[in-house]
Amino acid sequence: MRMRNKYRKPTTLRCNAGNRCSFPVVVWSLVGCLVMLHLYTLVHHKDGDGGEIQMRAGHHLLFRELKEVEEENIQIPPPKGKRSPRAAKRRPRRTTTLIDEFLDESSQLRQVFFPDRKTAIDPLKDAGNESFYYYPGRIWLDTDGNPIQAHGGGILYDQRSRTYYWYGEYKDGPTYHAHKKGAARVDTIGVGCYSSKDLWTWKNEGIVLAAEETDETHDLHKSNVLERPKVIYNDKTGKYVMWMHIDDSNYTKASVGVAVSDSPTGPFDYLYSKQPHGFESRDMTIFKDDDGVGYLIYSSEDNSELHIGPLTQDYLDVTRVMRRILVGQHREAPALFKHQGTYYMITSGCTGWAPNEALAHAAESIMGPWETMGNPCIGGNKVFRQTTFFAQSTFVFPLPGLPFSFMFMADRWNPADLRDSRYVWLPLMVGGAVDQPLDYNFGFPLWSRVSIYWHKRWRLPYRWNAKKR
Ligand code: DGJ
Repeated sequence: MRMRNKYRKPTTLRCNAGNRCSFPVVVWSLVGCLVMLHLYTLVHHKDGDGGEIQMRAGHHLLFRELKEVEEENIQIPPPKGKRSPRAAKRRPRRTTTLIDEFLDESSQLRQVFFPDRKTAIDPLKDAGNESFYYYPGRIWLDTDGNPIQAHGGGILYDQRSRTYYWYGEYKDGPTYHAHKKGAARVDTIGVGCYSSKDLWTWKNEGIVLAAEETDETHDLHKSNVLERPKVIYNDKTGKYVMWMHIDDSNYTKASVGVAVSDSPTGPFDYLYSKQPHGFESRDMTIFKDDDGVGYLIYSSEDNSELHIGPLTQDYLDVTRVMRRILVGQHREAPALFKHQGTYYMITSGCTGWAPNEALAHAAESIMGPWETMGNPCIGGNKVFRQTTFFAQSTFVFPLPGLPFSFMFMADRWNPADLRDSRYVWLPLMVGGAVDQPLDYNFGFPLWSRVSIYWHKRWRLPYRWNAKKR
């Protein structure tokens, strides 16, 4: 027997007395209204000053070059030296990959990955047509004509002096192995600092935190490790605070170090090192949020996960609050940034100085949960994308005057001669739907895609910094 459900919603709507409209008719009328409204808005904008439409068109033009997908077609050269047909039959020669070539110092492709001094970016000489062009991977000279030494670095935009400061590892010394199986290293020299108004011409401000030559028990003794220094400004104390990875040559101390200065160009006073929250800390970064709260993010538990926690108000220590994020994902080289209230992070895998695939992550709250979105690299070729363009993330910062745009900074490490490691700076854009199903949201993308575009040669649009913050 069919039961009548008195609570069942009617599928038809009563319009007027005696007049019945079907549900699809109502839906289609609504769609029609919306289309009309949209057309009206467009025409209205055209009739008016056209500002919105022009802005969108201008916006598109501004980014067209940056978002162009540039392909790379690098042919792997045939192996050198002749072999007898018998030898070739006995043991066929292993074919090499582009990654093998990158890691091979004597590769015929060495110039492709590490172009020589003749091609260096020289802001003092490259006037005219070459002005402001970035060439990822080329030697980059400072205003004294010396290669910039700021590896594993980060940028501070100093509101007070309206100047960018680039801090990084000053590695201008010989590379050697402290232990048979240990990673290649350079004795610690200190933290280099460079200043710029245009993000292209960099003046050497000297070593703002120097290594300790004699006291072997000191964290900064030259035999130890100082990596990935980052600086943020504390509005409350008026101090510039530097955090860095401090380690011994075996990477067993796994600590963070803190230094402070009254000026962005130092000298910085070294305060202490510690294992934050009582945990190992290797690759790390710091991030200053819009509300002024500082955060430390570090690889921990044998690099199997990242930890994140707020800093104290003076930025000189961590608080007791900490969350484990990206647990079991084995990520390092974190570079965190924020766009329209959402937090994003680029990380690398853990393969020493060798390049690997970058991943982008996003979170609504900085303390997590963080979701992994996928590889943000676009262009080059498959191997370029699988190796973060043969580089490793270190920092991302917003480009003022260019909405949705950031600078992605990475290091192309040269483990045979670490001082000759190169910089890979590329445009990073936030926008568009993500292309991978996500973990926590039943496959519905919540966040915009993060894209890092490969360019052999590129520059920021004309007057990009006209509207500085
Ligand atoms: C990878 C890290 O990201 C670098 O900063 C450095 O510590 C190397 N490992 C050392 O092998």
